[in-house]
Amino acid sequence: MSKITITAALPYANGPIHIGHLAGVYIPADIHARVQRLRGEEVLFICGSDEHGVPITLRARKEGVTSQDVVNRYHKIIGDSFKELGISFDIYSRTSNATHKELSQVFFKNLYEKGAFKEIRSEQYFDEQAGQFLADRYIVGTCPSCKNEGAYGDQCEKCGSTLSPTELLNPKSALSGTVPVMKETVNWYLPLDEIQETFLNEWLGGKSHWKSNVFGQCKSWLNEGLRPRAMTRDLEWGVPVPLEGADGKVLYVWFEAPIGYISATKELRPNDWEQWWTGDSHLVHFIGKDNIVFHCIIFPAMLYLRGDGYVLPEQVPANEFLNLEGQKISTSRNWAVWLNEYLEEMPNRKDELRYVLTSIAPETKDSEFTWKDYQTRVNSELVGILGNFANRVLVLMQKYYEGVMPAVGAVREPYALFDHGSAGDHPMVVEYLRPVVDLLNNYQFRDAQFKMMELARLGNKYLAEHEPWKLVKTDAEATAMVLSEAVQVLYNLALLMEPFMPDASSRLLSQLGVEVSTDDKQPFWLSGPQPGKWFELAEGHTLGAAGLLFQKIEDDVIEAQIAKLQATAAR
Ligand code: MF3
Ligand code: ZN
Repeated sequence: MSKITITAALPYANGPIHIGHLAGVYIPADIHARVQRLRGEEVLFICGSDEHGVPITLRARKEGVTSQDVVNRYHKIIGDSFKELGISFDIYSRTSNATHKELSQVFFKNLYEKGAFKEIRSEQYFDEQAGQFLADRYIVGTCPSCKNEGAYGDQCEKCGSTLSPTELLNPKSALSGTVPVMKETVNWYLPLDEIQETFLNEWLGGKSHWKSNVFGQCKSWLNEGLRPRAMTRDLEWGVPVPLEGADGKVLYVWFEAPIGYISATKELRPNDWEQWWTGDSHLVHFIGKDNIVFHCIIFPAMLYLRGDGYVLPEQVPANEFLNLEGQKISTSRNWAVWLNEYLEEMPNRKDELRYVLTSIAPETKDSEFTWKDYQTRVNSELVGILGNFANRVLVLMQKYYEGVMPAVGAVREPYALFDHGSAGDHPMVVEYLRPVVDLLNNYQFRDAQFKMMELARLGNKYLAEHEPWKLVKTDAEATAMVLSEAVQVLYNLALLMEPFMPDASSRLLSQLGVEVSTDDKQPFWLSGPQPGKWFELAEGHTLGAAGLLFQKIEDDVIEAQIAKLQATAAR
Protein backbone atom coordinates (compact mmCIF):
# COMPACT_ATOMS: atom_id res chain seq x y z
CA MET A 1 0.00 0.00 0.00
CA SER A 2 1.26 3.43 -0.78
CA LYS A 3 0.27 6.90 0.24
CA ILE A 4 -0.96 8.92 -2.71
CA THR A 5 -1.67 12.63 -2.48
CA ILE A 6 -3.91 13.59 -5.37
CA THR A 7 -4.52 17.29 -5.90
CA ALA A 8 -6.97 19.05 -8.19
CA ALA A 9 -6.23 22.69 -9.11
CA LEU A 10 -7.74 25.06 -6.56
CA PRO A 11 -10.47 26.94 -8.45
CA TYR A 12 -10.55 30.73 -8.17
CA ALA A 13 -13.42 31.71 -5.92
CA ASN A 14 -14.63 34.42 -8.25
CA GLY A 15 -17.17 32.45 -10.24
CA PRO A 16 -18.85 29.05 -10.33
CA ILE A 17 -17.39 25.90 -11.87
CA HIS A 18 -18.16 25.21 -15.52
CA ILE A 19 -17.98 22.11 -17.71
CA GLY A 20 -14.53 23.06 -19.00
CA HIS A 21 -13.11 22.83 -15.48
CA LEU A 22 -14.89 19.52 -14.95
CA ALA A 23 -13.76 17.83 -18.15
CA GLY A 24 -10.21 19.11 -17.83
CA VAL A 25 -9.52 18.62 -14.16
CA TYR A 26 -12.10 17.53 -11.63
CA ILE A 27 -13.72 14.52 -13.28
CA PRO A 28 -10.44 12.85 -14.30
CA ALA A 29 -9.03 13.60 -10.85
CA ASP A 30 -12.08 12.04 -9.22
CA ILE A 31 -11.91 8.93 -11.40
CA HIS A 32 -8.25 8.57 -10.50
CA ALA A 33 -8.88 9.02 -6.78
CA ARG A 34 -11.70 6.50 -6.82
CA VAL A 35 -9.64 3.93 -8.70
CA GLN A 36 -6.72 4.27 -6.30
CA ARG A 37 -9.04 3.81 -3.32
CA LEU A 38 -10.58 0.74 -4.95
CA ARG A 39 -7.10 -0.64 -5.42
CA GLY A 40 -6.59 -0.33 -1.68
CA GLU A 41 -4.10 2.54 -1.80
CA GLU A 42 -4.08 5.15 0.94
CA VAL A 43 -5.42 8.21 -0.80
CA LEU A 44 -5.88 11.85 0.11
CA PHE A 45 -7.77 13.77 -2.55
CA ILE A 46 -7.18 17.45 -1.91
CA CYS A 47 -8.82 20.60 -3.20
CA GLY A 48 -10.12 23.96 -2.05
CA SER A 49 -10.83 27.48 -3.21
CA ASP A 50 -8.06 29.78 -4.43
CA GLU A 51 -9.19 32.97 -2.75
CA HIS A 52 -6.46 35.47 -3.51
CA GLY A 53 -5.37 37.08 -6.75
CA VAL A 54 -6.27 40.24 -8.58
CA PRO A 55 -9.37 39.03 -10.50
CA ILE A 56 -11.13 38.55 -7.15
CA THR A 57 -10.36 42.09 -6.01
CA LEU A 58 -11.49 43.45 -9.37
CA ARG A 59 -14.76 41.66 -9.06
CA ALA A 60 -15.28 42.89 -5.51
CA ARG A 61 -14.66 46.49 -6.64
CA LYS A 62 -17.11 46.14 -9.47
CA GLU A 63 -19.80 44.82 -7.15
CA GLY A 64 -19.01 47.25 -4.36
CA VAL A 65 -18.40 44.47 -1.82
CA THR A 66 -15.27 43.19 -0.08
CA SER A 67 -12.99 40.53 -1.51
CA GLN A 68 -13.87 38.33 1.44
CA ASP A 69 -17.57 38.65 0.52
CA VAL A 70 -16.84 37.50 -3.03
CA VAL A 71 -14.86 34.45 -1.98
CA ASN A 72 -17.33 33.49 0.74
CA ARG A 73 -20.10 33.42 -1.82
CA TYR A 74 -18.27 31.36 -4.44
CA HIS A 75 -16.51 29.07 -2.01
CA LYS A 76 -19.93 27.84 -0.95
CA ILE A 77 -21.37 27.56 -4.47
CA ILE A 78 -18.32 25.71 -5.78
CA GLY A 79 -17.98 23.40 -2.78
CA ASP A 80 -21.65 22.44 -2.80
CA SER A 81 -21.77 21.74 -6.51
CA PHE A 82 -18.66 19.54 -6.42
CA LYS A 83 -20.21 17.57 -3.63
CA GLU A 84 -23.44 17.08 -5.46
CA LEU A 85 -21.66 15.86 -8.56
CA GLY A 86 -19.97 13.20 -6.44
CA ILE A 87 -16.44 14.58 -6.62
CA SER A 88 -14.95 12.68 -3.72
CA PHE A 89 -12.54 15.18 -2.21
CA ASP A 90 -11.30 14.24 1.22
CA ILE A 91 -11.25 17.94 1.92
CA TYR A 92 -12.40 21.06 0.13
CA SER A 93 -10.57 23.82 1.94
CA ARG A 94 -9.81 27.47 1.16
CA THR A 95 -6.78 29.73 1.06
CA SER A 96 -8.20 32.57 3.13
CA ASN A 97 -8.12 30.49 6.30
CA ALA A 98 -5.64 30.77 9.15
CA THR A 99 -3.88 27.42 8.67
CA HIS A 100 -3.05 28.38 5.14
CA LYS A 101 -1.85 31.84 6.01
CA GLU A 102 0.46 30.47 8.64
CA LEU A 103 1.81 27.58 6.60
CA SER A 104 2.53 29.65 3.51
CA GLN A 105 4.33 32.24 5.62
CA VAL A 106 6.41 29.49 7.22
CA PHE A 107 7.23 28.15 3.77
CA PHE A 108 8.26 31.60 2.54
CA LYS A 109 10.37 32.27 5.62
CA ASN A 110 12.07 28.94 5.29
CA LEU A 111 13.11 29.67 1.71
CA TYR A 112 14.05 33.21 2.66
CA GLU A 113 16.35 32.00 5.41
CA LYS A 114 17.95 29.54 3.03
CA GLY A 115 18.80 32.49 0.81
CA ALA A 116 16.60 31.19 -1.98
CA PHE A 117 15.26 34.58 -3.05
CA LYS A 118 16.89 37.51 -4.76
CA GLU A 119 15.86 40.96 -3.58
CA ILE A 120 15.27 43.05 -6.69
CA ARG A 121 14.45 46.75 -7.01
CA SER A 122 12.25 47.77 -9.87
CA GLU A 123 9.98 50.57 -11.00
CA GLN A 124 6.27 49.77 -10.97
CA TYR A 125 3.20 51.78 -11.81
CA PHE A 126 1.77 53.53 -8.76
CA ASP A 127 -1.60 55.25 -8.42
CA GLU A 128 -0.97 58.42 -6.42
CA GLN A 129 -4.61 59.11 -5.82
CA ALA A 130 -5.37 55.61 -4.52
CA GLY A 131 -2.00 55.49 -2.79
CA GLN A 132 -1.06 52.04 -4.05
CA PHE A 133 0.96 50.07 -6.56
CA LEU A 134 -1.00 48.70 -9.47
CA ALA A 135 -1.13 45.04 -10.41
CA ASP A 136 -0.87 44.49 -14.18
CA ARG A 137 -4.60 43.88 -14.38
CA TYR A 138 -5.27 47.22 -12.77
CA ILE A 139 -3.72 49.14 -15.63
CA VAL A 140 -5.80 49.79 -18.73
CA GLY A 141 -4.63 51.37 -21.95
CA THR A 142 -4.25 51.05 -25.69
CA CYS A 143 -2.80 47.84 -27.11
CA PRO A 144 0.42 48.61 -29.03
CA SER A 145 -0.38 46.01 -31.68
CA CYS A 146 -4.11 46.26 -32.40
CA LYS A 147 -4.88 49.66 -30.86
CA ASN A 148 -7.72 48.25 -28.77
CA GLU A 149 -8.30 50.88 -26.11
CA GLY A 150 -9.40 48.46 -23.41
CA ALA A 151 -6.23 46.35 -23.15
CA TYR A 152 -4.91 45.31 -19.72
CA GLY A 153 -1.39 45.63 -18.42
CA ASP A 154 -0.78 41.91 -18.83
CA GLN A 155 -2.77 41.10 -21.95
CA CYS A 156 -4.90 42.43 -24.76
CA GLU A 157 -8.03 40.31 -24.85
CA LYS A 158 -8.88 41.51 -28.35
CA CYS A 159 -5.78 40.36 -30.22
CA GLY A 160 -4.43 38.02 -27.57
CA SER A 161 -0.98 39.65 -27.24
CA THR A 162 0.82 39.17 -23.97
CA LEU A 163 1.86 42.58 -22.69
CA SER A 164 3.83 44.14 -19.91
CA PRO A 165 2.30 47.27 -18.34
CA THR A 166 4.99 49.57 -19.74
CA GLU A 167 4.10 48.57 -23.30
CA LEU A 168 0.56 49.93 -22.98
CA LEU A 169 -0.08 53.29 -24.67
CA ASN A 170 -1.92 55.90 -22.59
CA PRO A 171 -1.94 53.82 -19.40
CA LYS A 172 -4.62 54.63 -16.84
CA SER A 173 -5.28 53.23 -13.40
CA ALA A 174 -8.44 51.12 -13.19
CA LEU A 175 -8.78 52.25 -9.57
CA SER A 176 -9.00 56.00 -10.01
CA GLY A 177 -8.79 56.60 -13.75
CA THR A 178 -5.71 58.78 -13.23
CA VAL A 179 -2.42 58.40 -15.06
CA PRO A 180 -0.12 56.25 -12.91
CA VAL A 181 3.46 57.23 -12.15
CA MET A 182 6.55 55.04 -11.93
CA LYS A 183 7.78 54.36 -8.42
CA GLU A 184 10.53 52.18 -7.05
CA THR A 185 9.71 49.09 -5.05
CA VAL A 186 11.45 46.00 -3.73
CA ASN A 187 10.29 42.44 -4.20
CA TRP A 188 11.65 38.94 -3.66
CA TYR A 189 12.29 36.87 -6.74
CA LEU A 190 12.84 33.20 -7.33
CA PRO A 191 15.91 33.03 -9.61
CA LEU A 192 14.41 30.46 -11.96
CA ASP A 193 17.32 30.96 -14.38
CA GLU A 194 19.70 29.59 -11.75
CA ILE A 195 17.30 26.91 -10.51
CA GLN A 196 17.02 25.74 -14.09
CA GLU A 197 20.74 24.95 -14.10
CA THR A 198 20.92 23.42 -10.64
CA PHE A 199 17.70 21.43 -10.70
CA LEU A 200 14.98 21.88 -13.33
CA ASN A 201 16.91 20.87 -16.46
CA GLU A 202 17.82 17.54 -14.98
CA TRP A 203 14.62 16.82 -13.09
CA LEU A 204 12.28 17.71 -15.95
CA GLY A 205 14.59 16.00 -18.42
CA GLY A 206 13.67 12.74 -16.72
CA LYS A 207 9.95 13.22 -17.28
CA SER A 208 9.68 12.09 -20.88
CA HIS A 209 7.05 9.56 -19.76
CA TRP A 210 4.70 12.43 -18.88
CA LYS A 211 1.91 13.28 -21.29
CA SER A 212 3.46 14.73 -24.41
CA ASN A 213 1.50 17.99 -24.19
CA VAL A 214 2.92 18.55 -20.72
CA PHE A 215 6.46 17.41 -21.34
CA GLY A 216 6.69 19.30 -24.65
CA GLN A 217 5.53 22.54 -23.09
CA CYS A 218 8.08 22.28 -20.27
CA LYS A 219 10.90 21.47 -22.69
CA SER A 220 10.16 24.50 -24.79
CA TRP A 221 10.25 26.84 -21.79
CA LEU A 222 13.54 25.36 -20.69
CA ASN A 223 14.92 25.82 -24.19
CA GLU A 224 13.94 29.47 -24.18
CA GLY A 225 15.57 29.88 -20.77
CA LEU A 226 13.67 30.74 -17.59
CA ARG A 227 13.76 34.18 -16.00
CA PRO A 228 13.55 35.24 -12.35
CA ARG A 229 9.98 35.71 -11.19
CA ALA A 230 8.67 37.86 -8.33
CA MET A 231 7.21 35.85 -5.45
CA THR A 232 5.87 38.91 -3.63
CA ARG A 233 3.63 41.69 -4.88
CA ASP A 234 2.60 45.16 -3.81
CA LEU A 235 -1.04 44.39 -3.13
CA GLU A 236 -3.41 44.34 -0.21
CA TRP A 237 -5.45 41.19 -0.76
CA GLY A 238 -3.40 38.11 -0.02
CA VAL A 239 -1.09 36.54 2.55
CA PRO A 240 1.16 39.24 4.05
CA VAL A 241 4.88 38.83 3.41
CA PRO A 242 6.29 37.74 6.79
CA LEU A 243 9.31 40.04 6.78
CA GLU A 244 10.04 43.27 8.51
CA GLY A 245 9.61 46.30 6.31
CA ALA A 246 7.39 44.42 3.91
CA ASP A 247 4.19 46.24 4.79
CA GLY A 248 1.73 46.46 1.95
CA LYS A 249 3.20 43.40 0.27
CA VAL A 250 1.64 39.96 -0.09
CA LEU A 251 2.88 36.61 -1.33
CA TYR A 252 2.40 36.12 -5.07
CA VAL A 253 -0.83 34.15 -5.45
CA TRP A 254 0.95 31.48 -7.49
CA PHE A 255 3.48 31.11 -4.67
CA GLU A 256 0.95 30.52 -1.93
CA ALA A 257 -1.95 28.84 -3.76
CA PRO A 258 -0.11 25.53 -4.40
CA ILE A 259 0.98 25.57 -0.76
CA GLY A 260 -2.79 25.45 -0.23
CA TYR A 261 -2.58 21.75 -1.12
CA ILE A 262 -0.27 21.29 1.84
CA SER A 263 -2.27 23.45 4.23
CA ALA A 264 -5.46 21.60 3.32
CA THR A 265 -3.66 18.36 4.11
CA LYS A 266 -2.60 19.79 7.45
CA GLU A 267 -6.13 20.88 8.21
CA LEU A 268 -7.46 17.41 7.41
CA ARG A 269 -4.68 15.41 9.07
CA PRO A 270 -3.20 17.62 11.79
CA ASN A 271 -1.15 14.74 13.17
CA ASP A 272 0.40 13.09 10.16
CA TRP A 273 0.08 15.65 7.37
CA GLU A 274 3.82 15.77 6.79
CA GLN A 275 3.89 12.10 5.88
CA TRP A 276 1.74 12.91 2.85
CA TRP A 277 4.30 15.39 1.57
CA THR A 278 7.59 13.71 2.34
CA GLY A 279 9.31 10.36 2.08
CA ASP A 280 7.91 7.83 -0.35
CA SER A 281 4.46 9.36 -0.65
CA HIS A 282 3.33 9.85 -4.26
CA LEU A 283 2.15 13.22 -5.50
CA VAL A 284 -0.12 13.69 -8.54
CA HIS A 285 -1.44 17.08 -9.72
CA PHE A 286 -4.55 17.31 -11.91
CA ILE A 287 -4.65 20.66 -13.73
CA GLY A 288 -5.62 22.42 -16.95
CA LYS A 289 -2.97 23.39 -19.49
CA ASP A 290 -2.82 27.02 -18.36
CA ASN A 291 -1.48 25.79 -15.02
CA ILE A 292 1.46 23.78 -16.37
CA VAL A 293 4.20 26.32 -15.61
CA PHE A 294 3.12 26.64 -12.00
CA HIS A 295 2.87 22.90 -11.30
CA CYS A 296 5.79 21.66 -13.39
CA ILE A 297 8.28 24.47 -12.81
CA ILE A 298 7.57 26.92 -10.00
CA PHE A 299 6.00 24.67 -7.34
CA PRO A 300 8.53 21.85 -7.90
CA ALA A 301 11.31 24.44 -7.62
CA MET A 302 9.82 25.58 -4.32
CA LEU A 303 9.55 22.02 -3.00
CA TYR A 304 13.09 21.27 -4.11
CA LEU A 305 14.49 24.39 -2.43
CA ARG A 306 12.56 23.57 0.71
CA GLY A 307 14.36 20.21 0.91
CA ASP A 308 13.51 18.46 4.17
CA GLY A 309 12.49 15.37 2.19
CA TYR A 310 9.60 17.07 0.44
CA VAL A 311 8.28 15.03 -2.47
CA LEU A 312 8.09 16.26 -6.04
CA PRO A 313 5.17 15.58 -8.35
CA GLU A 314 5.28 12.19 -9.94
CA GLN A 315 2.67 12.95 -12.57
CA VAL A 316 0.98 16.10 -13.80
CA PRO A 317 -1.69 14.87 -16.20
CA ALA A 318 -2.73 18.27 -17.54
CA ASN A 319 -5.52 18.46 -20.07
CA GLU A 320 -6.19 20.80 -22.98
CA PHE A 321 -9.33 22.94 -23.22
CA LEU A 322 -12.98 22.15 -23.83
CA ASN A 323 -14.93 24.39 -26.21
CA LEU A 324 -18.66 24.91 -26.14
CA GLU A 325 -20.93 24.98 -29.18
CA GLY A 326 -18.14 26.09 -31.49
CA GLN A 327 -16.65 28.78 -29.26
CA LYS A 328 -14.12 29.07 -26.47
CA ILE A 329 -15.68 28.88 -23.02
CA SER A 330 -15.55 32.39 -21.55
CA THR A 331 -16.54 33.56 -18.11
CA SER A 332 -16.58 37.22 -19.07
CA ARG A 333 -18.84 36.59 -22.06
CA ASN A 334 -20.94 34.16 -20.00
CA TRP A 335 -20.37 31.45 -22.60
CA ALA A 336 -20.39 28.39 -20.37
CA VAL A 337 -22.48 25.65 -18.87
CA TRP A 338 -22.25 26.31 -15.14
CA LEU A 339 -22.27 23.28 -12.88
CA ASN A 340 -24.56 24.76 -10.24
CA GLU A 341 -27.15 25.65 -12.89
CA TYR A 342 -26.86 22.29 -14.61
CA LEU A 343 -27.51 20.49 -11.33
CA GLU A 344 -30.62 22.55 -10.78
CA GLU A 345 -32.01 22.46 -14.28
CA MET A 346 -31.18 18.86 -15.08
CA PRO A 347 -32.10 17.09 -11.85
CA ASN A 348 -30.88 13.53 -11.32
CA ARG A 349 -28.53 13.66 -14.25
CA LYS A 350 -25.17 13.84 -12.52
CA ASP A 351 -23.68 10.72 -14.00
CA GLU A 352 -24.91 11.68 -17.44
CA LEU A 353 -22.73 14.78 -17.22
CA ARG A 354 -19.77 12.84 -15.85
CA TYR A 355 -20.12 10.28 -18.60
CA VAL A 356 -20.39 12.74 -21.47
CA LEU A 357 -17.54 14.92 -20.22
CA THR A 358 -15.30 11.88 -19.86
CA SER A 359 -16.24 10.73 -23.37
CA ILE A 360 -15.08 14.04 -24.81
CA ALA A 361 -12.31 14.87 -22.33
CA PRO A 362 -9.64 17.06 -23.95
CA GLU A 363 -6.88 14.62 -23.03
CA THR A 364 -4.65 15.17 -26.02
CA LYS A 365 -6.16 18.13 -27.83
CA ASP A 366 -8.94 20.67 -27.42
CA SER A 367 -12.39 19.15 -27.75
CA GLU A 368 -15.96 20.29 -27.86
CA PHE A 369 -19.21 20.01 -25.94
CA THR A 370 -22.50 20.54 -27.72
CA TRP A 371 -25.93 19.97 -26.22
CA LYS A 372 -26.98 17.83 -29.20
CA ASP A 373 -24.00 15.58 -28.75
CA TYR A 374 -24.76 15.37 -25.03
CA GLN A 375 -28.29 14.25 -25.86
CA THR A 376 -27.11 11.67 -28.39
CA ARG A 377 -24.58 10.17 -26.01
CA VAL A 378 -27.07 9.93 -23.19
CA ASN A 379 -29.88 8.54 -25.32
CA SER A 380 -28.00 6.14 -27.53
CA GLU A 381 -25.20 5.07 -25.20
CA LEU A 382 -26.39 5.34 -21.61
CA VAL A 383 -30.07 4.64 -22.24
CA GLY A 384 -29.76 2.60 -25.45
CA ILE A 385 -26.79 0.42 -24.61
CA LEU A 386 -26.01 0.35 -20.90
CA GLY A 387 -29.47 0.98 -19.46
CA ASN A 388 -31.14 -1.23 -22.01
CA PHE A 389 -28.84 -4.15 -21.32
CA ALA A 390 -29.30 -3.85 -17.57
CA ASN A 391 -33.04 -3.55 -17.84
CA ARG A 392 -33.53 -6.46 -20.20
CA VAL A 393 -31.45 -8.78 -18.05
CA LEU A 394 -33.08 -7.78 -14.77
CA VAL A 395 -36.65 -7.83 -16.10
CA LEU A 396 -36.22 -11.24 -17.71
CA MET A 397 -34.66 -12.59 -14.52
CA GLN A 398 -37.71 -11.46 -12.55
CA LYS A 399 -40.06 -12.84 -15.13
CA TYR A 400 -38.55 -16.30 -15.46
CA TYR A 401 -36.87 -16.87 -12.10
CA GLU A 402 -38.47 -14.39 -9.70
CA GLY A 403 -35.08 -12.75 -9.43
CA VAL A 404 -33.26 -15.80 -8.07
CA MET A 405 -30.10 -16.97 -9.84
CA PRO A 406 -30.98 -20.29 -11.46
CA ALA A 407 -28.94 -23.47 -11.48
CA VAL A 408 -26.82 -23.69 -14.58
CA GLY A 409 -26.21 -27.13 -15.96
CA ALA A 410 -23.23 -28.29 -17.95
CA VAL A 411 -21.81 -25.73 -20.32
CA ARG A 412 -23.47 -26.02 -23.68
CA GLU A 413 -22.23 -24.57 -26.91
CA PRO A 414 -23.12 -22.26 -28.48
CA TYR A 415 -24.83 -20.67 -25.47
CA ALA A 416 -21.81 -19.92 -23.29
CA LEU A 417 -20.57 -16.35 -23.52
CA PHE A 418 -17.01 -17.18 -22.62
CA ASP A 419 -14.73 -20.13 -22.42
CA HIS A 420 -15.49 -21.73 -19.05
CA GLY A 421 -12.76 -24.31 -19.41
CA SER A 422 -9.80 -21.99 -19.82
CA ALA A 423 -7.04 -22.62 -17.35
CA GLY A 424 -5.56 -19.12 -17.11
CA ASP A 425 -7.19 -15.92 -16.03
CA HIS A 426 -10.86 -15.47 -16.68
CA PRO A 427 -11.30 -14.43 -20.32
CA MET A 428 -13.36 -11.41 -19.28
CA VAL A 429 -10.50 -10.26 -17.08
CA VAL A 430 -8.07 -10.54 -19.93
CA GLU A 431 -10.30 -8.94 -22.51
CA TYR A 432 -12.08 -6.20 -20.60
CA LEU A 433 -11.14 -5.69 -17.00
CA ARG A 434 -7.39 -5.54 -17.32
CA PRO A 435 -7.42 -3.32 -20.41
CA VAL A 436 -9.66 -0.88 -18.53
CA VAL A 437 -7.33 -0.90 -15.54
CA ASP A 438 -4.27 -0.46 -17.77
CA LEU A 439 -5.82 2.53 -19.50
CA LEU A 440 -6.73 4.05 -16.16
CA ASN A 441 -3.20 3.56 -14.89
CA ASN A 442 -2.02 5.43 -17.95
CA TYR A 443 -4.38 8.37 -17.29
CA GLN A 444 -6.40 7.54 -20.44
CA PHE A 445 -9.77 7.99 -18.83
CA ARG A 446 -11.69 8.52 -22.05
CA ASP A 447 -10.48 5.28 -23.60
CA ALA A 448 -10.98 3.43 -20.34
CA GLN A 449 -14.61 4.46 -20.20
CA PHE A 450 -15.08 3.50 -23.83
CA LYS A 451 -13.64 0.05 -23.13
CA MET A 452 -15.96 -0.29 -20.14
CA MET A 453 -18.92 0.44 -22.42
CA GLU A 454 -17.76 -2.32 -24.75
CA LEU A 455 -18.69 -4.79 -22.07
CA ALA A 456 -22.24 -3.45 -22.20
CA ARG A 457 -22.17 -3.67 -26.00
CA LEU A 458 -21.01 -7.25 -25.71
CA GLY A 459 -23.86 -8.03 -23.33
CA ASN A 460 -26.45 -6.58 -25.69
CA LYS A 461 -25.05 -8.45 -28.63
CA TYR A 462 -25.11 -11.67 -26.66
CA LEU A 463 -28.79 -11.22 -25.76
CA ALA A 464 -29.69 -10.35 -29.34
CA GLU A 465 -27.90 -13.43 -30.58
CA HIS A 466 -29.61 -15.93 -28.29
CA GLU A 467 -32.94 -14.22 -27.69
CA PRO A 468 -33.69 -15.77 -24.30
CA TRP A 469 -37.28 -14.50 -24.60
CA LYS A 470 -37.71 -17.02 -27.47
CA LEU A 471 -35.36 -19.63 -26.14
CA VAL A 472 -37.43 -19.93 -22.97
CA LYS A 473 -40.21 -21.57 -24.93
CA THR A 474 -38.04 -24.42 -26.16
CA ASP A 475 -34.98 -24.86 -24.00
CA ALA A 476 -35.08 -24.10 -20.27
CA GLU A 477 -31.50 -25.15 -19.64
CA ALA A 478 -30.05 -22.92 -22.34
CA THR A 479 -32.16 -20.00 -21.13
CA ALA A 480 -30.79 -20.34 -17.61
CA MET A 481 -27.30 -20.43 -18.99
CA VAL A 482 -27.74 -17.34 -21.18
CA LEU A 483 -29.40 -15.21 -18.54
CA SER A 484 -26.98 -16.18 -15.87
CA GLU A 485 -24.01 -15.33 -18.09
CA ALA A 486 -25.67 -11.98 -18.80
CA VAL A 487 -26.13 -11.30 -15.08
CA GLN A 488 -22.43 -11.95 -14.44
CA VAL A 489 -21.51 -9.47 -17.16
CA LEU A 490 -23.87 -6.93 -15.66
CA TYR A 491 -22.43 -7.46 -12.19
CA ASN A 492 -18.88 -6.86 -13.37
CA LEU A 493 -20.01 -3.92 -15.42
CA ALA A 494 -21.61 -2.37 -12.35
CA LEU A 495 -18.29 -2.63 -10.53
CA LEU A 496 -16.34 -1.30 -13.49
CA MET A 497 -18.66 1.71 -13.75
CA GLU A 498 -17.98 2.91 -10.25
CA PRO A 499 -15.18 5.41 -10.80
CA PHE A 500 -16.87 6.90 -13.84
CA MET A 501 -20.50 6.90 -12.71
CA PRO A 502 -20.53 6.24 -8.98
CA ASP A 503 -24.20 6.92 -8.54
CA ALA A 504 -25.44 4.72 -11.38
CA SER A 505 -23.02 2.03 -10.25
CA SER A 506 -24.50 1.90 -6.79
CA ARG A 507 -28.05 1.94 -8.14
CA LEU A 508 -27.19 -0.96 -10.42
CA LEU A 509 -25.51 -2.89 -7.63
CA SER A 510 -28.61 -2.55 -5.52
CA GLN A 511 -30.77 -3.72 -8.42
CA LEU A 512 -28.47 -6.72 -8.52
CA GLY A 513 -29.08 -7.23 -4.81
CA VAL A 514 -25.43 -6.94 -3.81
CA GLU A 515 -23.76 -4.92 -1.15
CA VAL A 516 -20.02 -4.85 -1.56
CA SER A 517 -17.59 -2.82 0.43
CA THR A 518 -14.54 -1.11 -0.99
CA ASP A 519 -12.39 -3.81 0.58
CA ASP A 520 -14.42 -6.55 -1.07
CA LYS A 521 -13.85 -4.90 -4.42
CA GLN A 522 -10.10 -4.74 -4.10
CA PRO A 523 -9.21 -7.96 -5.94
CA PHE A 524 -11.38 -6.80 -8.82
CA TRP A 525 -9.29 -3.68 -9.26
CA LEU A 526 -5.83 -5.10 -8.82
CA SER A 527 -3.83 -5.66 -11.93
CA GLY A 528 -0.24 -6.43 -12.72
CA PRO A 529 1.29 -9.45 -11.08
CA GLN A 530 -1.90 -10.13 -9.17
CA PRO A 531 -4.51 -10.78 -11.82
CA GLY A 532 -7.79 -8.96 -11.55
CA LYS A 533 -10.67 -11.15 -10.50
CA TRP A 534 -13.96 -11.71 -12.21
CA PHE A 535 -16.83 -11.53 -9.74
CA GLU A 536 -19.77 -13.91 -9.92
CA LEU A 537 -23.14 -14.17 -8.25
CA ALA A 538 -23.87 -17.65 -6.98
CA GLU A 539 -26.84 -19.86 -7.72
CA GLY A 540 -29.69 -18.97 -5.37
CA HIS A 541 -28.62 -15.30 -5.00
CA THR A 542 -31.65 -13.00 -5.00
CA LEU A 543 -31.53 -9.92 -7.19
CA GLY A 544 -33.08 -6.61 -6.18
CA ALA A 545 -35.92 -4.84 -7.98
CA ALA A 546 -35.31 -3.84 -11.58
CA GLY A 547 -35.61 -0.16 -12.47
CA LEU A 548 -34.57 2.16 -15.27
CA LEU A 549 -30.94 3.13 -14.89
CA PHE A 550 -31.09 6.20 -17.15
CA GLN A 551 -33.93 8.25 -18.63
CA LYS A 552 -34.11 9.45 -22.19
CA ILE A 553 -33.64 13.19 -22.74
CA GLU A 554 -36.30 14.80 -24.89
CA ASP A 555 -35.59 17.40 -27.58
CA ASP A 556 -37.33 20.26 -25.82
CA VAL A 557 -34.99 19.98 -22.83
CA ILE A 558 -31.98 20.31 -25.12
CA GLU A 559 -33.50 23.12 -27.12
CA ALA A 560 -34.20 25.04 -23.94
CA GLN A 561 -30.55 24.73 -22.89
CA ILE A 562 -29.30 25.94 -26.27
CA ALA A 563 -31.72 28.87 -26.21
CA LYS A 564 -30.64 29.82 -22.71
CA LEU A 565 -26.97 29.77 -23.67
CA GLN A 566 -27.59 32.09 -26.61
CA ALA A 567 -29.89 34.39 -24.65
CA THR A 568 -27.62 34.85 -21.65
CA ALA A 569 -24.34 35.28 -23.56
CA ALA A 570 -22.92 38.75 -23.09
CA ARG A 571 -22.23 40.55 -26.34
N1 MF3 B 1 -6.83 29.12 -9.33
C1 MF3 B 1 -5.99 28.62 -10.37
C2 MF3 B 1 -6.79 28.50 -11.67
O1 MF3 B 1 -7.99 28.38 -11.60
C3 MF3 B 1 -5.42 27.28 -10.02
C4 MF3 B 1 -4.59 27.31 -8.78
S1 MF3 B 1 -3.89 25.81 -8.55
C5 MF3 B 1 -2.84 26.03 -7.25
O2 MF3 B 1 -6.20 28.51 -12.72
F1 MF3 B 1 -1.99 25.11 -7.23
F2 MF3 B 1 -2.20 27.14 -7.35
F3 MF3 B 1 -3.50 26.04 -6.19
ZN1 ZN C 1 -4.43 44.05 -29.06
